[in-house]
Amino acid sequence: MIQKVLTAAVVLLLTTTFTQAQDALVTLETKDNALVLSKRNDGRVFYSYYGLKDNLPEKGKFPLFWEAYPCAGGDYVKEPALRVVHADGNTSTVLVYQSHETKKIDENITETHILLKDEYYPFFVTLIFKAYYRENLIAACTELANREDKPVMVYQYASQSMPLRANSYYMTQFHGTHNNEANMVEEKLTPGIKVLDSKRGIRAHEMRSPLFLLAPNQGANENQGEVYGGTLAWSGSFQFAFEVDERNTLIVTSGAHPFASHFALEPNKPFRTPEMLTIYSAEGTGKMSRDYHAWGRKYGLREGNQIRSILLNNWEATYFNFDHDKLVKLFQGAKDAGFELFLLDDGWFGNKHPRNNDKAGLGDWAHNEKKLPRGVAGLCEEAERIGIPFGIWVEPEMVNPQSELYETHPDWAIHQPHRSLHVLRNQMILDQTNPAVKDFSYSITADLLKNNPYISFIKWDANRYITNGGSSYLSPEKQSELVWRYHEALYEMMDKTAKEFPHIRMMLCSGGGGRTDYKALSYFHEFWPSDNTEPMKRIFIQWGYSHFFPAMTQAAHVTKRGNIKFSFDVAMSCRLGMDYDLEKASKEDFEFIKSAIAEYKRIRDVVQLGVLYRLVSPYDSPRCALMYVNDDKSRAILFVYQMEDDPNGTKLISLQGLNPDATYQIREINTSKPVLQERQMKGSDLMRGQMAFPLQQRSTSMVVELTALPSR
Ligand code: DGJ
Repeated sequence: MIQKVLTAAVVLLLTTTFTQAQDALVTLETKDNALVLSKRNDGRVFYSYYGLKDNLPEKGKFPLFWEAYPCAGGDYVKEPALRVVHADGNTSTVLVYQSHETKKIDENITETHILLKDEYYPFFVTLIFKAYYRENLIAACTELANREDKPVMVYQYASQSMPLRANSYYMTQFHGTHNNEANMVEEKLTPGIKVLDSKRGIRAHEMRSPLFLLAPNQGANENQGEVYGGTLAWSGSFQFAFEVDERNTLIVTSGAHPFASHFALEPNKPFRTPEMLTIYSAEGTGKMSRDYHAWGRKYGLREGNQIRSILLNNWEATYFNFDHDKLVKLFQGAKDAGFELFLLDDGWFGNKHPRNNDKAGLGDWAHNEKKLPRGVAGLCEEAERIGIPFGIWVEPEMVNPQSELYETHPDWAIHQPHRSLHVLRNQMILDQTNPAVKDFSYSITADLLKNNPYISFIKWDANRYITNGGSSYLSPEKQSELVWRYHEALYEMMDKTAKEFPHIRMMLCSGGGGRTDYKALSYFHEFWPSDNTEPMKRIFIQWGYSHFFPAMTQAAHVTKRGNIKFSFDVAMSCRLGMDYDLEKASKEDFEFIKSAIAEYKRIRDVVQLGVLYRLVSPYDSPRCALMYVNDDKSRAILFVYQMEDDPNGTKLISLQGLNPDATYQIREINTSKPVLQERQMKGSDLMRGQMAFPLQQRSTSMVVELTALPSR
């Protein structure tokens, strides 16, 4: 199967007429793939190949496909990766090879540095690639170093510029907005530039996550054909530019957004771009996702090999309307139902300006005396007495103008002089480029954790993006560095929190999926994909994010929206939790919640640590199906959701990833009225689609457990 795939890069080899054949300069190798760079006689470095290593061109026959890091101002007239103005005003850069080095970091990771230098100026660019062998992932970034005697102005600084040659290109983006994240839209690229970007600076992924799929020659397919996945490990503004040129070559230029973000690169102060994480799959998006998940669990997340806890959050249960006694009742309910953590959300602080809604109090982190007379410490005592671990919400980067913090430090908020105050969700952003602000923001979480050692979980929220992006701390010539410096400070804070409090689990949130990238996630255990918890919508949101992030990262909470069985079945395919007032649950619902939690505890090792197979896309039909299989294929969990009434549609589903020779016991779980008869079937028959999963009505669902019987 693999051998038959004609990769895009090979198509290039057969059709290209404008390149010379060369020996490889560097070959980055992963389990299935190879990325090759070569050097032209004049020292310029080119991409030569990226695809299956089985299809590598013969030695000495590598085409010089596309310059590896094309620079503006010289002979390159397309979207550049780099645009700088040298100290003497020269607007061109021409990079030539100096040296390279490949180091084995461990048995799985190889790091390669290719050092380039401007052919005249002492201006250096290092192309840095990390190849993760088992996971087929290549992380690319660039380091710029100025050894001229004056600063060099840097205007564009992509992480990577990747070429591709095929007959046509299909690009999928993951766009949306608050309450409606990660919608997948695929389009055929036409000549010119298509840009996917965010210029929002902070909470930059509100409208679009930094994720894309690229399928040459035909639309991306789950189980076959070529696809390149790309994601930028960066939480700020970003830009992916897809340029189809006059020869039908595609160049994808990816990195932090250059928009209004130029800076002066001082001599001898190297600057490194964010990492672009790419996976090539010749066997469709399913394999690509499985590789991203394996990489994410091992390298992209905190404790990616550890089971995540089932938590009860009070947000959709109470919003701001709670007090000590109410929370203690919720603790007790959580304990009785089998939850493993209680998470107290927004609204627990502020006195002069109580945080009773989103208009006031943000920034004043003393507990609200009226709601919580015994403080956070009193809540911890009660939670400990009841025996439920306790977590708490913070939004350390933000402030309401109606707060004591803002009254004291209006200059700490990001804002342009001579412009009227522009609030979003009634709040402003605290300027983390200012060290005093950064210390203050850091101390919010650190003090909470130091003063309340019982806290074991933090939800870190950020609810607005930048407008009027000015800093009263940065000097006039450094104003355009705001987003960059903000994120340096933010990551420093996140890193320090993770290191100083290694036992604390953390949820990344930004008004839902406003921060969904592997850089921020490296400090967190999971993220909150959306404030939309309506299960029908969540099916799409979870489906979208599942292309890059493993199930354990997606906090999926059952709320009042949707019927309880359907909601649980949807949430149980990710990291299960609830936002629910258990006191208001009927006896029947409470019993269902209890048993669903118990079921999830039994199956979650397969869901959270297993291998994902997306079987039926909700985009293609009125139903959705996906399954997880454990490593030795002895256990699998299948989720099927019926999204519209469909009495006549096919009910057969071809399962994947099972052991064809094993016989599986098949049992529908999470219901007292199973639709499926318990039975046994061979893995090969299940994978040939021999079994029907007969759902017909909208909002019905099933969770099916498959257990391999011991072989006789
Ligand atoms: C936005 C988050 O997405 C919600 O889950 C909740 O934490 C609110 N913020 C609280 O203000």
